[in-house]
Amino acid sequence: MGGRRSPWRPWPAGAYHHLMPTTTLPPAFFGTSLGSMHQTDSLAAMRSMPGHSVQLVCTSPPFALRCPKPYGNPAESEYVAWFRPFATEIARLLTPEGSFVLDVGAGWQQGRPCRSLYPYEVLLMCCRELGLHLAQELTWWNPATIAAGYWTNHTKERLKDAAHHLWWLAKGERPKADVRRVRWPYRRHMRSLLQHGRRGRKSPGGHDNRYFRAGNGGAIPHNLIALAHEGGSSPYLRACRAAGIAPHPARFPEALPRFFIRLLTDPGDLVLDPFAGSCTTGRAAERLGRRWLCLEREEDYLRGGALRFQARNEPARHRTRYEIFHPEAGIILGSGQ
Ligand SMILES: C[S@@+](CC[C@H](N)C(=O)[O-])C[C@H]1O[C@@H](n2cnc3c(N)ncnc32)[C@H](O)[C@@H]1O
Repeated sequence: MGGRRSPWRPWPAGAYHHLMPTTTLPPAFFGTSLGSMHQTDSLAAMRSMPGHSVQLVCTSPPFALRCPKPYGNPAESEYVAWFRPFATEIARLLTPEGSFVLDVGAGWQQGRPCRSLYPYEVLLMCCRELGLHLAQELTWWNPATIAAGYWTNHTKERLKDAAHHLWWLAKGERPKADVRRVRWPYRRHMRSLLQHGRRGRKSPGGHDNRYFRAGNGGAIPHNLIALAHEGGSSPYLRACRAAGIAPHPARFPEALPRFFIRLLTDPGDLVLDPFAGSCTTGRAAERLGRRWLCLEREEDYLRGGALRFQARNEPARHRTRYEIFHPEAGIILGSGQ
């Protein structure tokens, strides 16, 4: 990693010019030869950036939560009006083949077991008003979610809230994307089919078997991302503890932005996170050799974010599979109600 500096001292103004040809971003808080993080209001910062300059925006803005986080959360009733100017700038900054991956989780409406609708209102606003396209919706399932919340745990009327929608939006209809970069390993069944071949050109569902017979070097993943949050022994948390810094309370697991960066960008492309928090997206981009720009209002989160870049590169120790049950598994094994 080139040009490592102390995270505590701002970089001199101009240090990021090779990344982003603008003079109005504040000095970088921390940077590398590939990217920089800035303490700033991202709306103002994005307005100063040239259009068509960003290949991927991967971000998670503050949600409209019932129990607000310390960094502040917009009210549900004002959410779309609050988010519209940010989305307008993001749409302007994207290259014609660029993508915008938005994690905007829903909660419950005040005092009712009914879901908030603002994630869908945001999606419609982005597509209908700003002309973005919904390339695909993905679900991020966190298998480690606990049964928290009044309607789930107390009244037992609602299911465990373990999935987020991720909106993959794009400036054009054919954003740059290559699913071969995020392949899963083949399962035994598929390995055997590839080894022994299939009979006939059509599958029972009518699909042309030739595409399957050839083998793709791995399975094309579902639009379901199974990924738990990083545990207490993650290098980021250990670094925060050692430095006496409060960790960011709503972080991405790093594998989440890594998935989209692999899928939607090439090395050297610019990745932006305008609600960067602990700069997980920037760290993921750095590891994959993409340029990156992280914008975050709160200095404390940037302090922790800078530590991400100083933690040693440890071999990933994540699980490769999670267990999920057939919807009737418990009924079959239990009372048969
Ligand atoms: C949900 S958190 C993002 C966490 C991040 N994905 C991570 O992995 O650490 C949203 C962040 O947006 C920041 N934020 C909110 N409004 C902002 C603004 N106008 N400009 C810059 N950052 C902002 C908050 O301080 C908060 O850290």
